[in-house]
Amino acid sequence: MKIYNAKLIIPGLLIFVVMVTFPIWYNKGSAAPPPEPSLNTPAIQRMAEKQCVLPKDQMRTDHMQLLNEWRTEVVRNGNRLYVAWDGKEYNMSLQNECMRCHSNKSEFCDTCHVYAGLKSGSQPYCWTCHIAPKENK
Ligand code: HEC
Ligand code: HEC
Ligand code: HEC
Repeated sequence: MKIYNAKLIIPGLLIFVVMVTFPIWYNKGSAAPPPEPSLNTPAIQRMAEKQCVLPKDQMRTDHMQLLNEWRTEVVRNGNRLYVAWDGKEYNMSLQNECMRCHSNKSEFCDTCHVYAGLKSGSQPYCWTCHIAPKENK
């Protein structure tokens, strides 16, 4: 059996594959699919109705403002009780409230922050003072 000049065809195929997939690996990092932040924590598993302090879409875009608001309330006004839109009450605390449910910081907060390319990478400077949850790694 005669193979048509394999010496040319195989490298040719390789070049073709590289060219076709180039946009995929060239954009790695900037065009990777958005991460799916994991909600798989013991506290969230125990919830009958899985919901956050604010509706999910709002949490996704506004959690920084919410944290700011909480900090101001606690530090400036000494108020720790937050009553949410649905009447649920929360203790305004990053480490004792947010991280009680989202105890998987690296699979939750960090995956998103790395993807979003926060300047400080996966570590907003909050964790230099606030205690991040211990994760079994
Ligand atoms: C220089 C240290 C420091 C840094 C950095 C810092 N905080 Fe704080 N934060 C504090 C201290 C001290 C308190 C007061 C703690 C208290 O009264 O319980 C506080 C309180 C808070 C509170 C309310 C109380 C609590 O237990 O959480 C929130 C929410 C908060 N900070 C969020 C943040 C966020 C979000 C960031 C990052 C964007 C951040 N902080 C960065 C020191 C810091
Ligand atoms: C009582 C448990 C609980 C607390 C407390 C809590 N969360 Fe959530 N959080 C959840 C659940 C459950 C979801 C998923 C909601 C859904 O799917 O509708 C979620 C969703 C989110 C999302 C959106 C994730 C996505 O995929 O878009 C962000 C961001 C978030 N939480 C951040 C925070 C921050 C910051 C705090 C503290 C201010 C906090 N959460 C406090 C349980 C909690
Ligand atoms: C659904 C994706 C997503 C999840 C999950 C998420 N974040 Fe964020 N977070 C972002 C994005 C995007 C920004 C940057 C927003 C901007 O630059 O305007 C951000 C910014 C922040 C900031 C401001 C930091 C800074 O340096 O300005 C804080 C504080 C913060 N996130 C805390 C948290 C905490 C705590 C968790 C976990 C409980 C969390 N985030 C989970 C997407 C997410």
